[in-house]
Parts: sequence; C-alpha cells; structure tokens
Amino acid sequence: MSVRICDTALEAISVIEDNEFIWTHSMAATPRILIDALAIHAKTRQNLTLLQLHTERADSLASPELFGHLRHRCYFSSTSTRPLMAIGEADYVPMFLSALPKLFRSGEQPIDTAIIQVSPPDQHGMCTMGISVEATNSACLVAKKIIAHINPNMPKTHGDGFISYDSFHSVYWQEDELPLHPQEKFDEVTQAIGRNVAQLINDGDCLQVGIGAIPDAVLACLTNRKDLGVHTEMFSDGLLDLVDTGVITNRLKKIHPGKIVTGFAVGTQRLYDFVDDNPQVVFLDIEYVNDTSIIRRNDNVAAINSALQVDLSGQVCADSIGTSIYSGVGGQMDFIQGASLSKGGKAIIALPSTAKHGQLSRIVTTLDKGAGVVTTRAHVQYIVTEYGIANLRNKSLRERAKALIEISHPDFRDELTKSCHKIWGIHL
Ligand code: COA
Repeated sequence: MSVRICDTALEAISVIEDNEFIWTHSMAATPRILIDALAIHAKTRQNLTLLQLHTERADSLASPELFGHLRHRCYFSSTSTRPLMAIGEADYVPMFLSALPKLFRSGEQPIDTAIIQVSPPDQHGMCTMGISVEATNSACLVAKKIIAHINPNMPKTHGDGFISYDSFHSVYWQEDELPLHPQEKFDEVTQAIGRNVAQLINDGDCLQVGIGAIPDAVLACLTNRKDLGVHTEMFSDGLLDLVDTGVITNRLKKIHPGKIVTGFAVGTQRLYDFVDDNPQVVFLDIEYVNDTSIIRRNDNVAAINSALQVDLSGQVCADSIGTSIYSGVGGQMDFIQGASLSKGGKAIIALPSTAKHGQLSRIVTTLDKGAGVVTTRAHVQYIVTEYGIANLRNKSLRERAKALIEISHPDFRDELTKSCHKIWGIHL
C-alpha cells in the first residue's frame, strides 16, 4: 500500500471513521497539528475514543462541541483533560505505565488508528518517534493505520522508536516547534528537599527521576558524586549538567552500560538537541524501561518520585487530590518496586510537607476521602520532606507515624499526634 501524502493535516486525519479507537503520541511529542485537525474532523464523526497519556497543547480537543463525538480515555491526565474528568466528560484508567504496551500488544485494548509525530525519514526510509517512545511504540505495532506528522524539528533518536515511512497510511509534513518546559526555579523548600534526598544518593547509584521541580533540585545537589547511571522513565534537563560535568557516566550499570535509558524526554531545546542522533541515549518501549525485572538488574537503583499526600501508615497518594484526578499512576510503582528489588536499591518519595501555601499538611493521619493510593504502605520505603528523611521499611504503624510526624511541618505536628491517638489509639 502506498503512503498517502496529504496537503493538509485535516486531509490526513479524514480517514478516521466512526467508532474508532485512536491512540495519540503523548508527552512532548503530542502531535498538536493532527490533534487540532482531529478536533475539526471529530465533529463529523460519532463515538470516537482517544486513548492517551499526558498530552501537551491538546486544548482544541477539550471543546464541549466534541462531547458525544469524541471521548478521552486517559492513562494519565493533562491540563486539558483534567477539567473534563471533573465533569465526567473524560475517563481515567488507573494503570501502571509498564502494563500499557502489553494491553495494546495483546489486543485487549484494540487500536484502529495511531496519530504520531516523527522525525523525517533517513536514507533508509526510517523515521523515529523522537523524544517520546513510551507506549506509542506498541500502539503503532498494532494500529490498523498510522497517521504521521513529519516534523523536521523532531530529533532523530536511538532505541526502539525507529519506524518505517512505508508503514504510514497518511503523512503530513510541517515544521513545528516542540513544547518547551523551562527548568523551574527552586524555592527554599524545594532546595531543602533536594539536599535531604541527595544525602541518600551515593557514588555509583543508578537514578530514576520523576516529574517536577523536586527531582531537578535533587540533581542540582549531586555535583560531587561519581559514576552515576541513569535508567529512567522520563529524561529531563536536570540530568544534563551532570552528564556535561562527567558525574553521570553510566559506567557501572549492569544493563545498558554507558547508555542513558529512558522512555520519553520533556524539557528545553537544550535537552532535545542533546538527544538528537545521540547514541548515548536510548529511548525504549516503556514496557521494558519500567519492567521491574529489568530495573532490578542494575545495582543501587535510586528511584526518586513525588506525591500529593502521605498518610501516617505510609500510603502514598500521587494521582488524585481527594476524588479529583490530578495526574496518573504512571511509572511510580514500577520504579518503587524495581528499586526495592535492586541490590542496594532505594525507593524515595519526596514531597513538600505542606500544600496551599502552608495551609494544608501533606502528611495526614488518613488520606482524603477518595484519594488514590499509588504506592502502598507495603511498598513504601523513604519519605523525604524539607524537614528530613523517614525510612519506613520494617517499621510498625506506630513507628511510621512517629517518623512521619517528625518530618511533617511543625505547625501540624501536635494535631497529627492527637489525631493519631484518637483514630488508632496510638501513643507516640
Ligand atoms: N491537597 C490539596 N492540594 C494539593 C495537595 C494536597 N494534599 N498536594 C498538592 N496539592 C496541589 C498543589 O498545591 C499544586 O497546586 P498548584 O498547581 O495550584 O500550586 C498541585 O496540587 C500540584 O502539586 P505539586 O506538588 O506541585 O505537584 P508536582 O507537579 O510536583 O507533581 C505528582 C506531583 C505526585 C502529581 C507527580 O509526581 C505525579 O503525577 N506522580 C505520579 C506519577 C509518577 O510518579 N510517575 C513516575 C515518574 S515519571
């Protein structure tokens, strides 16, 4: 079958028919030009389902005009889908990120069309999925048709993201900026958390760093470490300085030595330039990157993730604020468990002690009604705030409560101690 070369994105998208399941390339590779075309085309179609992770610049698809035509089915929310979920106009599917490719490959979740954004074909006719391989690799393997936006600004990356131009049903070429995420400035609290987490990181550790300012603040404190490695779901700017200064060498990794392994990159142009045609960085299918049996093969894995709320028994809420879905399960548990299984590994959850400008404690006696537990109290190990480090492993509920109250904000410690006694009868 020959590839349909389209003059407009709408022409490329027009092959989507009623009742289709569509997968969209996600994260910073969200194909916004195809997304905007889909927002027009979907008005003429019925019962479309858009499967997705976190998407960027996809606001056009949040229009109320699409209700009844296209429904979002999200494995991770984004700024455009979060408000839709709050009014019941989008669906959230809690799932480990590592499990998503399997769901597609097995056919349990069928995919009719995949819409993706790729780098231009090379001399061998191969494009790449650029800065985001995540579950898109598996979606493209099973999709009945692939619609590709070929973007000369999309870096060519190494790893699993190579895809043949001939496998596309329709293509549309246009140069487009990728979404840029400048590195956040760290406030005092974030810096203090960064310093505390950094105490747990030793020379030779293999890092996974999650989303947000805290992981970058940790990385900024690691400038005097040696021979760090990286095997991470998400690759962000914070790691670049450590690569440039020779702190990250990947030399001691048992699996993929010498390489940074990742599933997707989100950050600045500097990051996207760094990964462009760089064999030091391999973008691999997220089923593999986040597989606990793969993660554990490196020694001294240090997984650093964040949370919205932690209760005094160690249950970690990371995907919702009460009943409101905020993000997703993502790869948090994949890496918490992978790190725990690794020889010398450490599973770290780092979060500010309060939210809402100090009005709310994030360390709570019981989670808010409806809050989703992402990391269970049996999996949790280190909880870190700006006030210190609590190692919960092999601690009883009473010992956990004491350790967590010690790293909570001082304004809430009395209240937490009293409510702990009231609810569990525990005297600390
Ligand atoms: N009650 C009410 N509001 C709260 C809250 C609480 N307990 N905790 C946080 N918030 C608010 C914050 O004030 C902030 O609001 P604002 O945007 O108005 O300032 C918002 O919720 C987000 O909190 P923040 O701490 O800034 O989130 P973050 O960007 O650091 O992300 C997670 C934290 C937990 C949402 C994120 O790490 C995540 O999605 N984790 C799950 C997936 C994962 O870990 N994947 C593996 C690594 S890639």
